Amino acid sequence: MTNAKRILVTSALPYANGPLHIGHLAGAYLSADIYVRFQRMMGKDIAFICGSDENGAAITIKAIKENTTPKEIVDQYHEEFKEAFKGIGISFDYYHRTSDPLHHETSQEFFRKLYAEGKFEERTSEQYFDAQANQFLADRYIKGTCPKCDHPAAYGDQCENCGSALSPTDLINPLSTLTGETPILKETTHWYLPLNKDEAWLREWIEHGKIDGIEHHDANHWKNHVVGQCKSWLDGGLQPRAMTRDLDWGVDVPQEIEGADGKKLYVWMDAPIGYISSTKAWAAENGKNWKDYWQNEDTALIHFIGKDNIVFHCIIFPSILKAHGDYILPTNVPANQFMNLEGDKISTSRNWAIWVNDYLKDLPNKEDELRYFMIKTMPEQKDSEFTWSGYQDAINNELVNNLANYVNRVVVLTNKYYEGITPEFDEDQEIFGPEGNDEFAFHDSELLRLYDDLNEMADSIRSFEFRSALSKLMEISTKGNQILQFNEPWKTIKEDEDKVKAVMNLSLQYVAAIACAIHPFLPTASDKLCNLLNIPLIAEDGDFVQMMDKLAFGEMLIDAGHKINSATHLFSRIDDELVEAQKAKLVPAATEDVKNENPIKENIVFDDFVKIDFRTATVIEAEKVPKADKLLKLKLDLGFEQRTVVSGIAEHYTPDEVIGREVTLVANLAPRKIRGVESQGMILMAEGNNGKLSFVAPDKGWDSGMIVR
Ligand code: 2FM
Ligand code: ZN
Repeated sequence: MTNAKRILVTSALPYANGPLHIGHLAGAYLSADIYVRFQRMMGKDIAFICGSDENGAAITIKAIKENTTPKEIVDQYHEEFKEAFKGIGISFDYYHRTSDPLHHETSQEFFRKLYAEGKFEERTSEQYFDAQANQFLADRYIKGTCPKCDHPAAYGDQCENCGSALSPTDLINPLSTLTGETPILKETTHWYLPLNKDEAWLREWIEHGKIDGIEHHDANHWKNHVVGQCKSWLDGGLQPRAMTRDLDWGVDVPQEIEGADGKKLYVWMDAPIGYISSTKAWAAENGKNWKDYWQNEDTALIHFIGKDNIVFHCIIFPSILKAHGDYILPTNVPANQFMNLEGDKISTSRNWAIWVNDYLKDLPNKEDELRYFMIKTMPEQKDSEFTWSGYQDAINNELVNNLANYVNRVVVLTNKYYEGITPEFDEDQEIFGPEGNDEFAFHDSELLRLYDDLNEMADSIRSFEFRSALSKLMEISTKGNQILQFNEPWKTIKEDEDKVKAVMNLSLQYVAAIACAIHPFLPTASDKLCNLLNIPLIAEDGDFVQMMDKLAFGEMLIDAGHKINSATHLFSRIDDELVEAQKAKLVPAATEDVKNENPIKENIVFDDFVKIDFRTATVIEAEKVPKADKLLKLKLDLGFEQRTVVSGIAEHYTPDEVIGREVTLVANLAPRKIRGVESQGMILMAEGNNGKLSFVAPDKGWDSGMIVR
């Protein structure tokens, strides 16, 4: 909710180092777009700002791997991003890029001011250095095991598995991603922002929505998971954070500053300042003053991001803005959680994703279908899941059977009964409302109901509850359908012409309201609906306010006598073939760097190896271990003897599936009691990155009890 005079909306700048996938859309772009389109329809002064994040170590790493330059990488993805956002209908007012000189100047100027005012602490510390590559390693250049969750491929700044923020020295068994070598520690000097000094005001601001005791925003309007993540950071105590790094690609620390050589601004002093430079570029081209949007308390600043960027936008960037002193702080940071795909985490490196540009190519003119399903399953409060069958069901059952069917009936009947001309009606004519047996429904009482429903939908959008807003809109379509269904104009057209006129007129008002209200969610469908009704397209200049004003005063959205067009298809069914083809495209790629994902353990000598007695064996009995979801109790035949082994494979195999399987057994592992059962050895399983298991076994028909080495 905001009563601000102006709104500045930002979406996280995507890293220009890989194509855009649906997880990105679900995190920071689709939600922002709905919000912005709606606020434009409310007549608000609003700017929607984004751009490509073209700096950062990941881009250099990719360039090295692909034997090209960072510049070529970012140029390619910048263009691809623009195409993807346009195709899916993300209506940025400005899409900038952080390699632009305006951005370099803006972020350097920011750094200069903070430096001149003594806001940084200069610290020398030991950081990882790759001796072979002869360079300091940015956090992203180091991978190792996460100390919190044991994930074997955590980055030096963050574990993407458990979301913990890390320092490179937190990693267990760190390795350089440049050379695969173990890095050494070496001294380097950087500029730190003492976040520890910001704890008190950050807490007041985040937990109570106040700055210096004065109300800044309603803290109840922030999402629980956002506030929760911030609180846990604050409770853990904030540390000074380095704002610079030893890097060779990015924005230079201003060169007049002593010791600036070879140092670049870190993402925290770079990417979010990209919001400011992008606003500057937009303002310059549109006759606006950028300062109105960044430095005026009348402006509400809203950052749309994914959950991996919460601390960045709620703690680190606000501290940077506050240190500067001239800037406003965000009114809200409605972060989304993650969207998974077909039962697994979306992953660029494993190619487990739906790429936006591929979708647009494979399913042309279906951008609204993707928007619809993604809004319906948006990870607003918790992680959610995209499945192709869910997509198919939602499109077929809701967009086709409900919305398109309803609109089609209204348009076809209007053309059939009145040659497409909106009928006049008698205001005193009784009709059935959506409940069917409501004797007192009239055209005007139903218009007021519509008004109330639209208001509820609008409130949900203002509160960043887009799933619920969309479902309210679909309820309006359902109610419209029910009004038709209960009044049965196709039966009563002969004997009760007056009633049919009132019902058809009301139905046209419903469709006109949907054409407007659907715009923030499905802009293409909105255009099609307006064309069907032969009314002007939604121009995003206060259209929603104008509509609500009319409805509140009982005025018509479509006047009697207005001629509509004839019916055309709004949505078509998604067939099984399409779904199967898309599912078949989802083949997880081997991880690019298996060695680094699962670092090789320390060397052992041959004598150690031969101590292990591996044997082939056959499973002859299998049963579940009671009260243990993961365990199967197996009886193995080694030819010369039988063994009982307890194995953690019950989530992957049923007892029936494993009986008769040939396996490899560690036969001399000291017996252990597992859940009261003595396990006499261990069978070997290969584990995929997605946690799936596979037997490591000799070829079929191999004798049991044979030696493996
Ligand atoms: O995490 C990211 O995707 C970075 N490119 C930063 C995004 S937030 C920013 F723009 F402030
Ligand atoms: Zn972790």
